[in-house]
Amino acid sequence: MTIRPLIAGNWKMNGTAASLDEAKQLAAALAESPAACDVALCPPATLLAQMAWVLKGSAILIGAQDCHGKDSGAYTGDIAAPMLADAGASLVILGHSERRTYHGETDAEVAAKVEAALWAGLKPIICVGETLEQRQADQTLQVLTSQIAGSVPASLADAAFAVAYEPCWAIGTGLTPTLDQIAQAHAAIRAALPGQGGAVAPILYGGSVKPDNAGEILKIAQVGGALVGGASLKASDFLGIILAL
Ligand code: PGA
Repeated sequence: MTIRPLIAGNWKMNGTAASLDEAKQLAAALAESPAACDVALCPPATLLAQMAWVLKGSAILIGAQDCHGKDSGAYTGDIAAPMLADAGASLVILGHSERRTYHGETDAEVAAKVEAALWAGLKPIICVGETLEQRQADQTLQVLTSQIAGSVPASLADAAFAVAYEPCWAIGTGLTPTLDQIAQAHAAIRAALPGQGGAVAPILYGGSVKPDNAGEILKIAQVGGALVGGASLKASDFLGIILAL
């Protein structure tokens, strides 16, 4: 049973049409030096369709950063999973800590979004991670297990999905957990995932992954790739991470 790693770039609320040049450069570089994993870029929703067009025929997958839990309706400003698929996405990041923190997303809401994504044919990347206070109170593994239980619906036991372990305190801070702490978190997440889907889901590490620390992080047992924020905005940095695998 092999787990195909995934390295995904999360552009967050960054990027305009001019940024598509970075995506083009990445595609050209990966055509020369193919990656040993799946590679995805997750731009803001405004760029999904254009990026899908620009990357047509390349090996780079397109992901969105969130979706609504319903397929359509009177939800001004929200975007439904089938719309993301229609725009060219094949993946969607769900339950990112910035959504949980700034938009108050609960585990139950994340689980509903995961179901909606699956129905639309999108592969969810479900994010979990502890705060600094929780880590300092020695609650990390308990928090992760409970987020997995609440955000990963049982229907994923037979589905293709990915999980991202992203300690909140490591996101955008330049801080990272020790390699042992990452290994422990990933082992606890693997043990908590349901079914065959859970046995083969890549578990990405996310939080201040850079070209200079990617190699050691990606070697850890149960680390099946990375979710990269800041360092995915420049093709050269992101390529350095991808080729570290
Ligand atoms: P970072 O963000 O790489 O900028 O720390 C990671 C993420 O939030 O997905």
